[in-house]
Amino acid sequence: MVETWAISGVDLHVDLSGTRVREALERSLRDAVQTGRLTPGTLLPPSRALAGDLGIARNTVAEAYGQLVGEGWLTARQGSGTRVATQPALPAPAGPVTAVPAPAIRYDLRAGYPDLTSFPRGEWLAACRSALNTMPADALGYDQPHGRAELRTALATYLARARGVRANADAIVVCAGFTHALWLLGRALRHRGARAIGVEAYGHQRHRDVLTDTGLRVVALPVDADGATPAGLDNLDAVLLTPAHQFPTGAVLSARRRIEFAAWAAKSGGVVIEDDYDGEFRYDRRALGAMQALAPNDVVYAGTASKTLAPGLRLAWLVVPTRLMSAVVGSQAAVDSRTAVLDQLTLAEFIDSGRYDRHIRRSRLAYRHRRDRLVATLARRVPGGTVRGLPAGLQVLLDLPAGRHETDVVAHAAARELAVEGLATYAADGTEHTPALVIGYGTPPPHAYTTALARLSATLTEAP
Ligand SMILES: Cc1ncc(COP(=O)(O)O)c(C=O)c1O
Repeated sequence: MVETWAISGVDLHVDLSGTRVREALERSLRDAVQTGRLTPGTLLPPSRALAGDLGIARNTVAEAYGQLVGEGWLTARQGSGTRVATQPALPAPAGPVTAVPAPAIRYDLRAGYPDLTSFPRGEWLAACRSALNTMPADALGYDQPHGRAELRTALATYLARARGVRANADAIVVCAGFTHALWLLGRALRHRGARAIGVEAYGHQRHRDVLTDTGLRVVALPVDADGATPAGLDNLDAVLLTPAHQFPTGAVLSARRRIEFAAWAAKSGGVVIEDDYDGEFRYDRRALGAMQALAPNDVVYAGTASKTLAPGLRLAWLVVPTRLMSAVVGSQAAVDSRTAVLDQLTLAEFIDSGRYDRHIRRSRLAYRHRRDRLVATLARRVPGGTVRGLPAGLQVLLDLPAGRHETDVVAHAAARELAVEGLATYAADGTEHTPALVIGYGTPPPHAYTTALARLSATLTEAP
C-alpha cells in the first residue's frame, strides 16, 4: 500500500505493504525523518486523522507514534501534538554485512486475500454492539457444537436466497474457517469408513494436507476448461470440488459434469464437498446457484467469510446432509475449536440487518473494476499472455508468453518487491501444466493497485 498524504504542505509517501502494518508505518516515518523528507519540527497529523486516511486502526498509528517518540525520532507534548524531533536520532552505524536479505514485498498479488483495508469496521462494530445488547446472558456459556442458532438461521435464509442452497438451520454447522471445516469433514468421513477422496489437480496444498492428516488418501482429478473431470470415481468415497469457480484456474464446473458427479454420489453413496469460497463474486452475470441444490443428500455445501469479509474472522459454515450430521458434529465436539460466540452473533446481525448484502455488493463492484483493469493492462502490455477463467472471484490465471518460465517470472517480480505465484504452487504432485501465473487482485489496497499493476507488467515485459 503506498499512500500519499500531506503534512504541513509536504507530500509524504507511506508504504504500508506487507502484513505488519504498524512496523511498515514506523519504517516509513523513520525513513522520512532520516532522509529529511520530514524536517525537524514538522507537525504530524493526529492519529485519528492519519488512521482514517490510511484505512488502518487508530491504535496502530498511536502505537507507531509512541514507538518513534521512544526512539527519539518524534516528540509528543500534551496540547501541541506529535512533531518531528529537532535532533532526530542518528541512523544506526552500518555493521558488517553478513547476509543479503530477501527483497521486501510491498505489492502482494498472491491469490487468497480480499482487500483487508475495506473491511467494514464501522458496520461490523454496529452489528457487534447490537448483538451484545440483545443476546441473552446464557449465550456467553458453552455453545453447542453446531454453532449459535441465530447465525445458523440467518445463514439458512441467506444461502437459500443468494446461493440457491437447500438449507435449514438444523443442517448448518458453523466452523472456524473452511480449512477447519474440511478437517471436520475429513475426520467424519474417515470415521464412517471412507478411505480415498478426489481433489482437483489444482488447489491449495494445505487443503490436501488437511485431508491427508485425517487419514484419507488424496487422489488428484484432472482439471480442464469444464472444471474437474469425473475420472476414476469408482475408487473414491468423496470428492472436493470448487464448482462455481475452480481454484485457481477459474473454470466453472459444466452442467454435464455436475450431473455426472451427483449421479456418482447417488449411486455409490459417495459425498461431494462443494467449496463455494467465492460464489458471491461473479461479474459478467448472476452467479450460478450452488451445486448442492442438485443433490442435497449427497453434497456438503461449504461457505466462508474469508473472501467476503476477512480470513482473520475464522468464520465458515457447512450445510450437511442428514446422513453425515452426527459424524460432523461429533468431530466438532471432539476438538472443541469453534468461532467465538460473539463473532457468530455479530455475523448473524450483520446478515439479518442487510449489511452483509450491502458489503458484498460494494465489494463486487470494486473487485470487478480491479479485474477489468488487470485484464486490460495485461492485454495492452503483455500481448503474448492469455488470461483464462471466468470473470469471477479474486484471481485470474495468466498463461505466460512463449519462452517465459514461472520461476523466473516469480523471482523477477520479487526483485520488484512484488509477490505473485506460479501455477506450480497449486499443482498436486505429478500434475503437468504449461507456464502460468495465478494473479490475485484482491489484496493491494486501492491506492497501491496502480503501482502493483505497473510492476507486474514491467516484470512480464522485461527480457527473459
Ligand atoms: C479454494 C479456497 N477455498 C476456501 C478458502 C477459504 O479458506 P478459509 O475459510 O480456511 O480461510 C480459500 C481461501 O483462500 C480458498 O482459496
